[in-house]
Amino acid sequence: MTEAYSTLQEFEKVLFYPEVHTINTTADYRLNSEFVIPGLLESIENSQTGFFLSKVFVDEIGLNEYLLRSSSFTHMPEWSVGREDSSQGVFFGYLNLTIDKGQYGKSITIPVAIKPYHTKKRLAIHEFAAQNLVNKSPGLKTYSPLGLMVDETGCVNLITVFEEDVKTLDNINWDLDGSDALDDHLDPFRALTSSAKILALMHSAGLVHGDAQIKNMGLDKNRARPVDLTTMRRFLLADFSQDVNARQMILRDFNQITRSVIEKRYLMTEDSRKRAQIIGANLISPYVSMMRHPSLPFACDKGFQDMLTSVTETFTEEL
Ligand SMILES: Nc1ncnc2c1ncn2[C@@H]1O[C@H](COP(=O)(O)OP(=O)(O)O)[C@@H](O)[C@H]1O
Ligand SMILES: [Mg+2]
Repeated sequence: MTEAYSTLQEFEKVLFYPEVHTINTTADYRLNSEFVIPGLLESIENSQTGFFLSKVFVDEIGLNEYLLRSSSFTHMPEWSVGREDSSQGVFFGYLNLTIDKGQYGKSITIPVAIKPYHTKKRLAIHEFAAQNLVNKSPGLKTYSPLGLMVDETGCVNLITVFEEDVKTLDNINWDLDGSDALDDHLDPFRALTSSAKILALMHSAGLVHGDAQIKNMGLDKNRARPVDLTTMRRFLLADFSQDVNARQMILRDFNQITRSVIEKRYLMTEDSRKRAQIIGANLISPYVSMMRHPSLPFACDKGFQDMLTSVTETFTEEL
């Protein structure tokens, strides 16, 4: 990251808070990276700092009247342990921002994760918007987005606050031998029930994960955490009964999470009846019963419930 300078006006221009696209009709409800925040990518690329800081973050640490002068980054490779599974090449370290207000200047240092988007740059904005949306949904929390930064190579980087205690469920103790990458010794049963809960909460909020593998499900000390929202979509709960796409996306998430746990070591070594029983009792049944909660539009939708039942039966046979 190079030093970056900006005028107050330029900084303000990229400091607006991108509200997720306003929902008007069913035709435009999906979180779509092409239109979610028109002009934002271009405005970050054209600003001198290359930075766009989230308004939530700026307000939270009281930076509203400050001007960003420069930034630097110190890489902390050891923070990657247990977080190596990353197709985007996420890396971690300290971000230092030098800011000032008139004569008064200061610098702040924040531990961050940086997710680079070399191609499909608009997906960085898509994930940024998705993270904000998830963090506003009841019971759900993903990483906290600080902002976006375009570097000198033109790569768009999504910056989130580094959270050491979030563990993704690919790293738990699937061997049941007392060891795991982040040393928390969570067991597979909790991983399965947490994943069921994450997906049921997302679906009940009108959100579809889109890459619902066990490695993109997480836990911190208190709660379940969905991560990696590059392909997240949303749908309108009110339109659910007519929305064929929403059904397919929901069932796809459910299918994907189930398939991604079958190959996990502990479950592989179990005989097939026991494996089906473990996955059924800890993942499939909790998910299906949450999706039948009477307050949700899924509950009274007989067509959808029949689809869930038939998917569940297929799994039980296949496992
Ligand atoms: N802010 C963060 N704090 C801690 N770990 C993070 C943070 N952001 C990403 N990670 C971890 O880095 C890994 C890769 O992140 P992810 O969003 O899944 O990217 P990818 O699309 O490359 O898979 C995951 O294990 C994820 O939990
Ligand atoms: Mg991932």
